[in-house]
Amino acid sequence: MAKKLLVIANWKMYVQSQEAAKAYVAGLKRKLKTIGGVEVWLAPSFSILPLLKGIKVGAQAVSAHADGAHTGEVSSAMLKAAGASFVIIGHSERRAVSDTNEAVHEQLVRAAEAGLVPVLCVGEQERTQDGSHWNFIEEQLASALRGAQSLAGKLVVAYEPVWAIGKSAQDAMQAEELQETVIFIRKTLAELLGRTDALKVRILYGGSVEGDNAQKLLVEGGVGGFLVGHASATLDDFVAILKQCKK
Ligand code: PGA
Repeated sequence: MAKKLLVIANWKMYVQSQEAAKAYVAGLKRKLKTIGGVEVWLAPSFSILPLLKGIKVGAQAVSAHADGAHTGEVSSAMLKAAGASFVIIGHSERRAVSDTNEAVHEQLVRAAEAGLVPVLCVGEQERTQDGSHWNFIEEQLASALRGAQSLAGKLVVAYEPVWAIGKSAQDAMQAEELQETVIFIRKTLAELLGRTDALKVRILYGGSVEGDNAQKLLVEGGVGGFLVGHASATLDDFVAILKQCKK
């Protein structure tokens, strides 16, 4: 299993100007000198990605197609050439507007072809009494990873329950529930990829991670890090999370 914790900032459309993005990165690099034990990646918008240096950057989405007539889309090869090393795939905000399980699978294959690390997002809309959320998560993993066994060493899975996204620390998933879910995801990955490879996959949590709940989620939730949305929009809030990243 990966040793260092991994925290990814998903800037969504929060950080809009090139100046603000560059100032954020400069400040973050200063802070990281005093915060050890955590690996930090940034996912800015396409227009900002090529400008950020000295930090690992990736994209928030990728086309399911390698090239051709696809207006408005950006291919994995283009992302790689622009400096991306990873890409978020299957985020619920993309699934809500366009991305089917099949498209997510295609995007994962495209990412692998270009040598980008896929950060595959899965997560249920709601928790149900009958436990159907487990089938939902299993299906998202199985369809995305179909035939993609060779990816295991590089794959990151971000578990993001949709009901917990964009709220506050109090509304995030509780650590105990998270731990149970991480075990379920690891078991599902073992069935799909084999036990040894499943252990290599980093499993992150996303959904209202803030400075107030980060440590408990890490220690008791059993995750390998976080995918952070709104609390990554300002450097101080993001650094507050990074400071809690001690197991
Ligand atoms: P949030 O977003 O931290 O604002 O809940 C997480 C995400 O959507 O990746």
